Amino acid sequence: GKVLVLHGPNLNWLGKREPAVYGRETLDDLNRVLNETARQLGMELRIFQSNSEGGLIDRIQAEAGWAEAILINPGAFTHYSYALRDALAGMSVPVVEVHLSNIYAREEFRHHSVIAPIARGQIAGFGFDSYRLGLRAINELLEKRNR
Ligand code: DQA
Repeated sequence: GKVLVLHGPNLNWLGKREPAVYGRETLDDLNRVLNETARQLGMELRIFQSNSEGGLIDRIQAEAGWAEAILINPGAFTHYSYALRDALAGMSVPVVEVHLSNIYAREEFRHHSVIAPIARGQIAGFGFDSYRLGLRAINELLEKRNR
């Protein structure tokens, strides 16, 4: 399957930002894990990070003809970006939302996701494994669809 992986705002700062919450490993480390998982599953990834809403939306639209699924950690946009939600809803492919932290165990404002209602599902709280599990979920979805 062809999967567009999107990292939202501040995820380029992984390893430096709030290590007690997000760990000491960097976005490059995470992308290595993603590429390795994709290789094992026989999936093709395009990985993109942006700190801006428009950057993410432009990329979603640009990959509309290529992507068969989207794996996204929308960062703080999770909690308030209707524009990002609409861009994802406008794609005809499954969207899986992932978070490093368990957003439901944190501040009140993180308990609500405006992305979740248009996502196929959400995985939160497992660190890098949230992404690995998300890729596996997408792999299952695409295999069932192609059966
Ligand atoms: C996050 C959770 C969000 O609330 C936060 O704004 C982030 C990271 C996570 O992966 O746990 O930037 O999406």
